[in-house]
Amino acid sequence: MDPHVSRRILIFDTTLRDGEQSPGCSMTVPEKLRMAHKLAELRVDILEAGFPIASDGDFEAVERISREVKGPVIAALARALREDIERAAKALEPAEKARIHTFIATSDIHLKYKLRKSRQQVLDEAVAAVELARRYVDDVEFSAEDATRTDWDYLEQVCKAAVAAGAKTINIPDTVGYSIPDEFAALVGRIVQALGPEVVVSVHCHNDLGLATANSLAAVQAGARQVECTINGIGERAGNCALEEIVMTLKVRRDRLPYETGIVTQQLFPASQLLASLISFGPQPNKAIVGANAFAHEAGIHQDGYLKERTTYEIMDPRDVGVPESRLVLGKHSGRHALRQRCKDLGFELTREEVDEVYRRFIALADRKKGVTNDEIVAIVREVIGAGVRSAQS
Ligand code: KIV
Ligand code: ZN
Repeated sequence: MDPHVSRRILIFDTTLRDGEQSPGCSMTVPEKLRMAHKLAELRVDILEAGFPIASDGDFEAVERISREVKGPVIAALARALREDIERAAKALEPAEKARIHTFIATSDIHLKYKLRKSRQQVLDEAVAAVELARRYVDDVEFSAEDATRTDWDYLEQVCKAAVAAGAKTINIPDTVGYSIPDEFAALVGRIVQALGPEVVVSVHCHNDLGLATANSLAAVQAGARQVECTINGIGERAGNCALEEIVMTLKVRRDRLPYETGIVTQQLFPASQLLASLISFGPQPNKAIVGANAFAHEAGIHQDGYLKERTTYEIMDPRDVGVPESRLVLGKHSGRHALRQRCKDLGFELTREEVDEVYRRFIALADRKKGVTNDEIVAIVREVIGAGVRSAQS
């Protein structure tokens, strides 16, 4: 790779815009402010605070975040329309660092059925929108909505025209999550070449086929230097690229992906938890990085390996992402070693025979239910050793 090419990947968080606009995710203005402060602590580079033309609440949220949240660039979304851009500019006025993010669809399918406009009209409107936005702020991002289903020559033409009009960041969204990694890398690589090193090429991937993170990583390897993403991967339909996934992949696999972000990774789990408490759902239990089971081990062989050496079954230290500790889940797949360790943690030093008997009763119980609680383990141990007689707790 060319040593002059930057290896710093900008993290553009759109939890409060693309994320918030999806079902079950709406937040009040004070809730958005709390989340925005957490995103600033996480050190996202750009924080997309909302879509000011959408509602008075969205306008107020962008305005208050612009006034109160320091650190990231604050971005506001605007269609390629005068009233949207003026509203975004107004909401961003108090920001120390402001970005107007304007977009228009470029695929033939959107032009024909949604916009009912010709390619030339869309190109002219994109240019006019960027020029207008530049009258308010220096930092303008242009997005070609549905870029991955757009004719590549036309997409390149629109992107070049947006840059000539003053856009500093060009975003290539996979709006409908349709692309696959090698194809997306080829498209992004072509746009990076066409626009040259002064322009930041960004990607914004949706997860309809479960490929948002893979596509974003492929784009980074092809020269993209900004990734748009959300906490817990929330967003339209199947969501957006999950911030925690892209950041931790870049961190854990630095050997193959020699890039850096500015994210304070220890804030990933707290940010995920805060978001879950503000919207109507949390991440699924097996969600990478932040799910309840992401650092939980139940299988006996895994628990045994983990207890001997954590790295046998963990590629990340949970503390690195702000998870307090790994969890050994005791269920019917668990082994003696893990059970003895849990008894020890609960204050019981058992003889070998006692462990055997506790284990026998534990497996009989675990066979009948999902997971065994600490209270149930204590009850079994007490039955086996005689209440309180040999307890290290007593
Ligand atoms: O998915 C999309 O295309 C968008 C744009 C507004 C960037 O969210
Ligand atoms: Zn989107």
